Amino acid sequence: MCKDCKKPFFITTPIYYPSDKLHIGHTYCTVATDAMARYKRLCGYDVLFLTGTDEHGQKIELKAKEKGVTPQQFVNEIVEGEGGVKDLWKLMNISNDRFIRTTDDYHVAAIQRIFKKMYDNGDIYKGAYKGKYCTPCESFWTESQLVDGKCPDCGREVVDAEEEAYFFRLSKYAQPVRKLLTETDFLEPKSRVNEMVANFIDPGLEDLCVSRTSFTWGIPVDFDPGHVVYVWVDALFNYLTALGYENDRYNDVDKYWPAVHFVGKEIVRFHSIIWPAMLMSVAMPLPTKVYGHGWLLLDGGKMSKSKGNVVDPYLLAERYGVDALRYFLLRTFPFGSDGNFSNELLIGTINTDLANDLGNLVSRTCAMVQKYFGGTLPEAQEADETLDAPLVELASGLRDRYEAQMEKYQFQNALAEVMKVISRANKYIDETTPWLLAKDEAKLPRLARVMYNLLATIRICGILLTPMMPTTADTIRDRIGADVYDWDSAATFDALPKTATVKIGDPLFPRIDMEKELAELEAIHAAANKPKNAVEIEPLATENVDFDTFCKSDFRAVKVKACEAVKKSEKLLRFTLDDGTGTDRQILSGIHKFYEPEQLVGKTLVAIVNLPPRKMMGMESCGMLLSAVHQENGAEKLNLVIVDDAIPAGAKLC
Ligand code: MSP
Repeated sequence: MCKDCKKPFFITTPIYYPSDKLHIGHTYCTVATDAMARYKRLCGYDVLFLTGTDEHGQKIELKAKEKGVTPQQFVNEIVEGEGGVKDLWKLMNISNDRFIRTTDDYHVAAIQRIFKKMYDNGDIYKGAYKGKYCTPCESFWTESQLVDGKCPDCGREVVDAEEEAYFFRLSKYAQPVRKLLTETDFLEPKSRVNEMVANFIDPGLEDLCVSRTSFTWGIPVDFDPGHVVYVWVDALFNYLTALGYENDRYNDVDKYWPAVHFVGKEIVRFHSIIWPAMLMSVAMPLPTKVYGHGWLLLDGGKMSKSKGNVVDPYLLAERYGVDALRYFLLRTFPFGSDGNFSNELLIGTINTDLANDLGNLVSRTCAMVQKYFGGTLPEAQEADETLDAPLVELASGLRDRYEAQMEKYQFQNALAEVMKVISRANKYIDETTPWLLAKDEAKLPRLARVMYNLLATIRICGILLTPMMPTTADTIRDRIGADVYDWDSAATFDALPKTATVKIGDPLFPRIDMEKELAELEAIHAAANKPKNAVEIEPLATENVDFDTFCKSDFRAVKVKACEAVKKSEKLLRFTLDDGTGTDRQILSGIHKFYEPEQLVGKTLVAIVNLPPRKMMGMESCGMLLSAVHQENGAEKLNLVIVDDAIPAGAKLC
């Protein structure tokens, strides 16, 4: 495909709520979308990959209030702050081309125009929103949101109430949307279609409330002050505003629209019923596809921050590597169905598929090429049809089998195809017994061909692993000296130069000690779930000290005459102390992190004065100040022992 006529491909993740840190579930969807975007790029498409954050709404307004910050400050921290959404995607090697925040000015202005457009064409009208109202929380709830018939936030009684609101005429679009779902492949997997039709369309679609007056953290309806746009109009249209729809920030609608949307199953309704209806209302083409993926469950249930059972992708990526985590997510769970996450499954998959099968194949092959041929294969190579054909055929057909699965969004099957070839290659080593061939000079051409077949197989697998494990794929290419590494060549077995040169390196995926690792993860999890403000003290000493030894330590009350930070040291404070002897005593103490010098002048402290003098930063420290130390929420805390000022300098403590 020539560069100028590349076909466009637009793919999106849901825009996530920045109400809390994102967890492994969000990571799962984003990694899958990233793999699809990278796959399409590999195939030669001009890809635009969009993700972002859905920042308005009552929940965020309430959370910000709890924290004592503005909603904008609150979302800024979660989206842009350290360890926030953008950081997580960077860590996970997500190749999004654009990131939209619904608080971006261009999006806000575009939503106001879109809202007005639908109002002008008669699809948005003013009515009364009826619901259950919690007076103290000033919040409307639907029947299904209530917990035991009470407010889900504060648990108090709710009352029937009405407020003026705008509605979108969803009912008008019931028939065309039904047709779209039942007569096309718009929504996949197919199982979700019945659910939508039976549960939502056939019982009768009700018009949708699209504005609120009971909270303010939203996009104002500019022609009716007091109303803010209710989140789903604001959220769904992100897919178009991010291309420049109804704004001047971008100009990509014609080029990239329509989209493929990856979304979790719980928001399929919004994407397959409400979203097409709204697009019909503004006369825009419908998305190419909505794919509703399943959930990652923990112990069979949903992960939630409040249950304290969310899995932290940062922790896992740090311990096992980003590519191992990406591989696990895509290989283990069929994309359309729910799956149970467990650390055991994760570690098991890394050990079996990545350390044993893939990692081992690459290391063994490169090590043998190094050992038997000094790193570069010779020109003279001899095939053995019977032994070679099964591997060569399997590897040559891999790209097409993989493509068939990827086009159906079946990442787990695409990876299974790759792993089958990798296992076959490991078996081929056992069948061809290179170590025996190496013993006979006459068999070196045969040995060379065996090595070539292995490298050529690794090259094909490496190319096809690029979307799922981009860094590993780069390493593989580098190790096997593959200069041809593209989609077209992935179907050509011998595209690797005959005299390929390998490089030796660390194992791609070190084996993990399952038991040890599970115990460590358990301990980390327990520590993370400790109640807030948890104070930890060091365990008491179990060994006794004899009384005479204790009495040898000379503790004295000392008065701080002067205190200053030591230049060029971040930690040290220099104390000038009155110890009652008439001569100033100098003590250096590494406590600047906990105190500013001026806080301490005039205080009466306790020092041990008969320690041998020590040099620090070129100055002498004569003794040590006593302090109390503990841990609070995992951070070290230190308090100097400050005693009653009535105690004279030099008084002995015993
Ligand atoms: N803001 C809306 C989406 C608006 S899109 C126009 C929203 N945000 S969310 O933060 O709750 O993210 C939901 C998405 O995160 C799910 O649809 C799914 O893709 C992903 N997941 C969140 N938890 C998940 C699991 N436990 N398992 C798999 N995916 C999960 O809804």
